[in-house]
Amino acid sequence: MAISLMLASLIASLLITVAASNDLSFTYNRFPAAAANDNLILAGIAEFNSDRLLRLTNDSMQEKGQAFYPHPVKFKSNGTVSSFSTTFVFAIMPQYANLGGHGIALVISPTRGLPDSLPSQYLGLFNESNNGNLTNHVFAVELDTIYSSEFGDINNNHVAVDINGLDSLLAAPAGYYDAGGNLRNLTLISGQPMQAWIDYDQVESRIDVTLAPISAAKPTRSLLSLRKDLSEILEDTMFIGFSSSTGSFLTHHYVLGWSFRLKGQAESLSISPLPRIPRIGPKGKSKALAIAIPVISVTLALAVILGVVYLVKRQRKFAEVLEDWEVDYGPHRYKFKDLYRATKGFRAKEELGRGGFGVVFRGVLPKSKIEIAVKRVSHDTQQGMRAFVAEIVTIGRLSHRNLVGLLGYCRRKGELLLVYDYMPNSSLDRYIYDQPKLVLEWWQRFKVIKGVASGLCYLHQGCDQVVIHRDVKASNVLLDSEWNGRLGDFGLARLYDHGSDPRTTHVAGTPGYLAPDHARTGKATPGSDVYAFGAFLLEVACGRRPIDPTRPAGEVILVDWVFANWVSGQIVEARDPNFGSEFVVEELDLVLKLGLLCSHSDPEARPSMKQVVQMLEGELPLPDMSSMGLSLSSIGLNFGRREGLMGLALSTSPSSGSFTHLSSAEESLVCGGR
Ligand SMILES: *[C@@H]1O[C@H](CO)[C@@H](O)[C@H](O)[C@H]1NC(C)=O
Ligand SMILES: *[C@@H]1O[C@H](CO)[C@@H](O)[C@H](O)[C@H]1NC(C)=O
Ligand SMILES: *[C@@H]1O[C@H](CO)[C@@H](O)[C@H](O)[C@H]1NC(C)=O
Ligand SMILES: *[C@@H]1O[C@H](CO)[C@@H](O)[C@H](O)[C@H]1NC(C)=O
Ligand SMILES: *[C@@H]1O[C@H](CO)[C@@H](O)[C@H](O)[C@H]1NC(C)=O
Repeated sequence: MAISLMLASLIASLLITVAASNDLSFTYNRFPAAAANDNLILAGIAEFNSDRLLRLTNDSMQEKGQAFYPHPVKFKSNGTVSSFSTTFVFAIMPQYANLGGHGIALVISPTRGLPDSLPSQYLGLFNESNNGNLTNHVFAVELDTIYSSEFGDINNNHVAVDINGLDSLLAAPAGYYDAGGNLRNLTLISGQPMQAWIDYDQVESRIDVTLAPISAAKPTRSLLSLRKDLSEILEDTMFIGFSSSTGSFLTHHYVLGWSFRLKGQAESLSISPLPRIPRIGPKGKSKALAIAIPVISVTLALAVILGVVYLVKRQRKFAEVLEDWEVDYGPHRYKFKDLYRATKGFRAKEELGRGGFGVVFRGVLPKSKIEIAVKRVSHDTQQGMRAFVAEIVTIGRLSHRNLVGLLGYCRRKGELLLVYDYMPNSSLDRYIYDQPKLVLEWWQRFKVIKGVASGLCYLHQGCDQVVIHRDVKASNVLLDSEWNGRLGDFGLARLYDHGSDPRTTHVAGTPGYLAPDHARTGKATPGSDVYAFGAFLLEVACGRRPIDPTRPAGEVILVDWVFANWVSGQIVEARDPNFGSEFVVEELDLVLKLGLLCSHSDPEARPSMKQVVQMLEGELPLPDMSSMGLSLSSIGLNFGRREGLMGLALSTSPSSGSFTHLSSAEESLVCGGR
């Protein structure tokens, strides 16, 4: 039993051996593991990667790589080379798109390997001394990607049959015939896998070489067809394998799969099990990478540059001036970024108005959703900024129902931003002159007048420090949602008083409201505010500006005209014609007379704001106006001329501090306050 089994297996193995030698065939859809009996024998720089992909050449230059089927093949029987057929899938991957190394050759040689051959143009097949020698007995089909004129190459992308030397017997540009019989070109160094078929027909002594892209079936028409009896060339027993070489340009030569059959058709290769060609080599050989790397680097560099530009721009856009001393003002200091967002980037659409000091924008604070008005004041000077900001912050602590609340500030180079409560009904001047859409009635105006008087009184006397407004006028009186008058812009004129640059001619205060004493000395006092308040009273009651050049000669200067009306005993006739009959004569009479009184040229003759408030409330009678008649007349008549001169003189005049301690509990009571 055991003997018969052994015998059977012996007979079986004998049969296989006979079959192998007479009718050898092998198929490598994937090359076998290193230890396998039929593993290819490698020489030169050839190696398998982890995926069992045969890489004949790597990044070494001027090298050759070879891989041979380990067993001899008995090509001849009875002195004649038998028919044989072989097919393989290969890929040639150059480092640079158009510069390849030398090609790949399928070779049949008497020895298992060609150790004495040369690399580069010799393809690892021959050397200088044996090239073309008939004693070589070497048959090869080359897939050549370099034009070597010494061997009569046709171009740098050709397929050729070589026998004993590199001077090809027959060559053709790489290509294939498609199903329609059209010749299509192939680029060997495209990096794309391609399939090659080499068939020898014993009967016709014909060699056929066919090429096709991996996706195509074997073309019916071969690329090369050569009649040549190989019986003179090959010896009985030969070795078959691949040879490849590199020159000056790095190229990877790959063989993905291989199949061979003696006396028959080689088994077709299955494409799917073939190993993948690594796209990204250790030094980035692939064409895709050659393009991708510069593109990616440029893109990245651009992105980085754009990012930096963006950050720098952003940094500049939101840059602020913040000095150590401002740290104390923490809660009053706003971030420019927040103000920028609040006003939607200071959009023109958010603009509320333009004043002597800058443009005002409406905004909504991003976090608290509080409506604000942001005034952008440009300033050229850093000088006095510290004192000014100190004042701003002081003023920010002031709180009165007839003052526009100053919430805080922000400082940038050449720019100061002041953040105020938002006043939905805009400024008073819009409702009193130049044919307003909505005319404020007398009772509303009287309420506003009393409110502003109270606010100004608070500034002068109601808090720890005397704050001089410096720019009382109808356009600086804002109306809140309940139409209460609120004095805005207080203290701002001081910024320009501080500016000592003689080239700038900022006028602190507004012509028509400037007290002659203020204009003469350049010194703002509570009295100069009272003077401006007098002009304000007249403009509100009369519905016209303090100076109106469009009027007839006697009416250009409002105070003169009101004075003339008073002298003629008809002061109430100076009122705004828009009132119709809807006014209280006593109130109007009081306001007009008080306006004249406040506009007295002698600061000593003007009432204090406390007194003004008391008079408006009826708590204090108006002083006897007739005793002041003459002096009032002289102011009235000289008012306009003086104004013109004084206004100009002011811009370069030195200023004095506006804060002096002057406070009493009684005054606080009169002026309202917190
Ligand atoms: C190429 O392969 C050979 C043999 O494996 C090795 O000695 C050589 O260092 C390799 N060259 C490069 C550049 O990787
Ligand atoms: C081998 O050749 C000899 C003479 O050339 C011939 O007689 C013989 O039949 C051949 N054998 C085969 C197997 O073809
Ligand atoms: C060329 O190759 C042959 C064998 O293929 C060898 O005998 C000879 O020495 C080689 N010549 C040179 C110069 O390497
Ligand atoms: C061919 O090679 C053989 C053996 O290597 C040598 O004897 C012979 O001289 C060579 N012939 C030519 C033409 O080089
Ligand atoms: C194909 O290649 C040949 C030779 O390389 C060239 O003359 C021909 O213009 C090519 N044809 C196409 C369609 O690229």
